[in-house]
Amino acid sequence: MQIVALSGSSRTQSFNTALLRAAASLAAAPARIEVRTIAGIPLYDGDVEQAQGLPEAVVALKDEIAASAGLVIATPEYNNSLPGPLKNAIDWCSRPMSDQARVFGGKPVALCGAAPGRGATALAHVAWLPVFRVLGLRYWPHGQLMVPAAHEAFGDDGGLRDEKLRERVRAFADGFAAFCAESAAVPSADR
Ligand code: FNR
Repeated sequence: MQIVALSGSSRTQSFNTALLRAAASLAAAPARIEVRTIAGIPLYDGDVEQAQGLPEAVVALKDEIAASAGLVIATPEYNNSLPGPLKNAIDWCSRPMSDQARVFGGKPVALCGAAPGRGATALAHVAWLPVFRVLGLRYWPHGQLMVPAAHEAFGDDGGLRDEKLRERVRAFADGFAAFCAESAAVPSADR
């Protein structure tokens, strides 16, 4: 069972990407978490879309999400809301509207996030909810995973320092995988 995990940062040392890598390494089989980032996704431009269609990186991401059992988003928080670059990636993936149901319709989605501050991306999480609703994603509300003081949580190798946090990440990955498996068993009309 493949789950796509999208990090909302293109930074090499991104805490959000590190969090997803930790989840991918801790998830129990048969779930397989594939980590992707927003690196290489250009700024949305309606003229480009009309003249050339979607950029290759967007087509590839859309197809991976469409083929996945679920989507995990690791969101940074920018100015107490969701980060523009990640919203831009999701906006591209929502194009054209006629393809939204294939990519997002009824798809399980979970949120996590890491930040150096104490707020730990809580406000970004709230800001994502109307976006999920309009795209028809199926939000998993039980496992919000937020990592404050992220600069202390990860070691130089990007691994998690604390065993308790590692257990929380494992529970998040396994809990969401179970939600994805349940969702796959429910006929889409009943979701
Ligand atoms: C931030 N950061 C931030 N952090 C936070 O907890 N609340 C916030 O409102 C903001 N605002 C904000 C705005 C902008 C423009 C930037 C660039 C950053 C800090 C942010 O959490 C930090 O840069 C993280 O390290 C970003 O995530 P990655 O790149 O490590 O995954």
